[in-house]
Amino acid sequence: MSDLDLPRLIDAACTVRQNAYAPFSNYLVGAALQTIDGAIVVGCNVENVSYGLTNCAERVAVGTAVAAGKREFVAIAIATANGGTPCGACRQVLAEFARDLPVYLVNVDGGRTVTEMSLAQLLPGQFVL
Ligand code: THU
Repeated sequence: MSDLDLPRLIDAACTVRQNAYAPFSNYLVGAALQTIDGAIVVGCNVENVSYGLTNCAERVAVGTAVAAGKREFVAIAIATANGGTPCGACRQVLAEFARDLPVYLVNVDGGRTVTEMSLAQLLPGQFVL
């Protein structure tokens, strides 16, 4: 298990946020996952003119990690203009791979202030089969 490198994780989330494709909401989201082997896997939101087809940043990051054979995570950083929390769908998708996970919410317009939460706190009673 790699030690958390929070500055690097936050940087990665803020950097990938700049690639977000969000012409409809103008709400840019960057997500960075640290995997247990120390890698950082990123995602950004990708909107679509057919709004429901939008992909959230967190789910893009999870899908990219899984496609690279990485399913165990140390933490996630999520960068937004206002330090917003992940949506319910993203919480459940994260819960698929981590019962609990530190979640660092980065407020980019607030001088990159960081709020730490846990996935268990964000999603009590997560669905299990
Ligand atoms: N969004 C995310 O990327 N992650 C979330 O957890 C919540 C919402 C995106 C979707 C859409 O592109 C924009 O933020 C506004 O909802």
